[in-house]
Amino acid sequence: MRKKTFYLIGSISCLCWIVIVCYLFVHKPPGKIIKLKDVNYQVEQLEKDLKGQLNSNKILINNLRSLKRKLSGTGKEIKSYSYDDTIAVLLFSCNRVTVRRNLDQLLKYRPDATSFPIIVSQDCGHEPTRKVLQSYGDQITLIRHPDLSDIPLVGKEKKFKGYYKIARHYAWALNQTFNVFNYNTVIIVEDDLDIAPDFFEYFRATYQILASDPTLWCVSAWNDNGKEGLIADNSADTLYRSDFFPGLGWMMTKNVWLEIADKWPKAFWDDWIRQPAQRKERACIRPEVSRTKTFGKVGVSNGLFFEKHLKFIKLNEQFVPFTKYNLTYLLKDNYDDWFIKTVYGSPSVTVQDLASGRLDGNGPVRLTYRSKVNFKTIAKAFRLMDDFKSGVPRTGYRGVVPFMFRNRRVYLAPPPDWKGYDTS
Ligand SMILES: *[C@@H]1O[C@H](CO)[C@@H](O)[C@H](O)[C@H]1NC(C)=O
Ligand SMILES: *[C@@H]1O[C@H](CO)[C@@H](O)[C@H](O)[C@H]1NC(C)=O
Repeated sequence: MRKKTFYLIGSISCLCWIVIVCYLFVHKPPGKIIKLKDVNYQVEQLEKDLKGQLNSNKILINNLRSLKRKLSGTGKEIKSYSYDDTIAVLLFSCNRVTVRRNLDQLLKYRPDATSFPIIVSQDCGHEPTRKVLQSYGDQITLIRHPDLSDIPLVGKEKKFKGYYKIARHYAWALNQTFNVFNYNTVIIVEDDLDIAPDFFEYFRATYQILASDPTLWCVSAWNDNGKEGLIADNSADTLYRSDFFPGLGWMMTKNVWLEIADKWPKAFWDDWIRQPAQRKERACIRPEVSRTKTFGKVGVSNGLFFEKHLKFIKLNEQFVPFTKYNLTYLLKDNYDDWFIKTVYGSPSVTVQDLASGRLDGNGPVRLTYRSKVNFKTIAKAFRLMDDFKSGVPRTGYRGVVPFMFRNRRVYLAPPPDWKGYDTS
């Protein structure tokens, strides 16, 4: 009996539905001529709605993922990679149509779309760049910075407006990535970077170390001293810890973002992030051979820096299967012992010893610097970056800057009784 009633109600519902649908199809408002303009408008609306829907879906999926992560808990041991550990790639774009060069490489080298979804955030409202980005369709998630308003600055500050806009854009887009799309980890790239074939492999492998070691707060693809001659041959698999935040293709987790988001600065975010109050003595992982290289010399920062340094950085070409390697040596407890023993166990030499070529063998050696001025003099002599940010020399770890000289490893190091960085 019940079954019969059920079928009856079902049939009536179906019938009603068909009648309504037919009515809607057949019935058109009398006398209305459909204009092409209207159709276009409606198609555009539909497209917008669909895109909105797509973004909402992505957000929903990420919320579910993040819930799953929370439920599965975290341990103290090394995290092994699981496909829940989506790492978003956030590409910053403004008014350079050459963003295509970076985007094409990201898409070419990305192992799969699920583990590395790409968000492109565009500032500046530059129409030609927007067209380029839109041409990638649903291969990327395109978001646009809604605040294009002017930033009023007075006097000397005026010429730094670009840096203010960049900082504002970063804050907005990172908030979107972590708090709206709800990703847990992000790799940040800018629109003027070339990337190495193992870019994603590198980040996927080091992600486990980053997530396991609270004394790390970033992984960077960049070696500030990564010029030909300063890096070892056949050392594509060599990685270091660095107290200097390198930027230029770097990964951080949501925890770090939540910690710094509220005090995010109005300009010069990269120098700000290097300050002790933000860094809190944490380090980054960086490679011996850079996995990024900047190709854009027209930008906010001056072209001189590009001509003098950036263009000489060697981009890695060899694919290193990092995810197959045991990288636990990069964890602080393992690394520091090894690092201190290696550096301070190496024979102490002078600049003259090195320059004269009278040293025996080709083992590692140590070159001591005793002050910032002293460091700068030596750094210049060896074509190393000679500047300090918040007391830390570029690529420095515990004050030590490793580099190659005539195929010999040299550690430019403070005396063994080093007490910490002089941030004054
Ligand atoms: C971050 O995004 C959320 C969601 O859109 C918003 O409510 C919040 O105000 C944003 N926070 C900042 C600092 O912009
Ligand atoms: C990785 O290397 C460490 C020593 O650095 C070792 O204790 C550990 O067992 C190794 N892990 C694997 C999975 O081989």
